[in-house]
Amino acid sequence: MTTVPFWGRLFFCAFTPYSWHTMAIMAKPKIKYTCNDCGASYPRWQGHCESCDAWNSIVEEIPVAASPMSGRVSGGKAAQLVSLDGAPEDAPRHLTQSAEFNRVLGGGMVPGSAILIGGDPGIGKSTLLLQTAAHLSQKTPVLYFSGEESASQIQMRGRRLGLEKANVHIATTGHLETILATIADHKAGFAVIDSIQTVFSDKTESAPGTVSQVRLAANEIIGAAKRAGTCIVFVGHVTKEGQIAGPRVLEHMVDTVMYFEGDRGQPFRILRTFKNRFGATNEIGVFDMGDKGLRDVPNPSAMFLDERSLEAAGSAVITAMEGTRPMLMEVQALVSATNLAQPRRTTLGVDGGRLAMLSAVLDKHAGFTFSNHDIFLNIAGGLKVTEPAADLAMASAMVSSLLNKPIPADRVVMGELGLTGEVRSVGQMDIRLKEAKKLGFKVAIIPAGITPPKVDGLKVVPIKRLSQLVEHLF
Ligand code: TYD
Ligand code: MG
Repeated sequence: MTTVPFWGRLFFCAFTPYSWHTMAIMAKPKIKYTCNDCGASYPRWQGHCESCDAWNSIVEEIPVAASPMSGRVSGGKAAQLVSLDGAPEDAPRHLTQSAEFNRVLGGGMVPGSAILIGGDPGIGKSTLLLQTAAHLSQKTPVLYFSGEESASQIQMRGRRLGLEKANVHIATTGHLETILATIADHKAGFAVIDSIQTVFSDKTESAPGTVSQVRLAANEIIGAAKRAGTCIVFVGHVTKEGQIAGPRVLEHMVDTVMYFEGDRGQPFRILRTFKNRFGATNEIGVFDMGDKGLRDVPNPSAMFLDERSLEAAGSAVITAMEGTRPMLMEVQALVSATNLAQPRRTTLGVDGGRLAMLSAVLDKHAGFTFSNHDIFLNIAGGLKVTEPAADLAMASAMVSSLLNKPIPADRVVMGELGLTGEVRSVGQMDIRLKEAKKLGFKVAIIPAGITPPKVDGLKVVPIKRLSQLVEHLF
């Protein structure tokens, strides 16, 4: 009889497949630490997120328990592209009450699609969605889940909007399993989740709003909505930096991502698409927040130029393009003498780097000295311009303020400014000029590089170099 020595038995016990299996079952789920703002994960807790620079945003994330059957799938099916029918794009879209909202959506809401709307608190997300819910409830069952407000608060808002009789079903819950069951029970065609950060599931112990809860909830709701053909709108909180809070992956999961922007001190709001699987991105919708909710602004140019003072130095007008839409905006500059060794450069609505570049180019190629002046640059009405086509208007406003000479009120200026003082072409000039004409402008200073489109009643002044700008500006 052979005897196995004691150490040999130990060795044998430790390395049987059975013992490995038992150890795997007994192993504790690995805890990760995840930033609630940007979704970056860390092996241990720390106070500062290196990825998005937020403080105290990192929380413990307990993974969702995997089912014992997970990973054991065999076989699968794939259908030919041509044989697919009933694709979401083919189904008739739900038209909302607002032509602006429909435009941003790419022509209405696609049944079964998931939309994420982010924006600062108090900007009007819940108002827009309650108005939309009330309108759509005339055609399809509509659910409004609110984890943030009580039923009476929603009712009060409904009354304020004159929609208290609308056939919208309100549920003040954030419990994921309840939400899924309610959507299925009501066979809802449209549902609002206000907000995704308040939804929580029994399947994970993390707090509502944490990355694992948001990811799980969004995944389950989107899956259920696609199967039932329900169009879902998630409201998403935004971080300090204006990004939608929670995992970046949330933006990948949904079909459409929109941001509701605006200055709370001003009545107008802009709804901007960031991603749209069913329409163009960079499209915008403009709304006016009044005491009866949000109203469309079909002609934003007129509204943005409404309060322009016609005889003031330091103001220039540009037709900027927002997606496919031309919008006239007023660029304002204040240039004032200073004794500061480092003069101030402050911008609102335009990039600070652009201002530094423009003052250097004006200095070098047009002989204006800004080095002993503070410069403040602003787009009136809290708007933003990012396109280089605004260079010439910014330069014009700065020169006008420096010389204390108003630019005639009937002039629009657009063009990109190069570092060598050349005026460079910009796109979609015909649309820009037509919009300017529509608003009563008579003269347009534009880059010489493009063949100017003919617009009756609008005089076009093409310029090649910055030095020519001053000749034609006043
Ligand atoms: P709300 O839709 O609650 O914002 P969000 O859901 O984005 O946090 O809008 C709240 C603000 O809108 C609040 O400051 C009041 C204002 N408001 C109006 O000016 N008019 C209205 O008719 C309504 C309903 C709200
Ligand atoms: Mg709200």
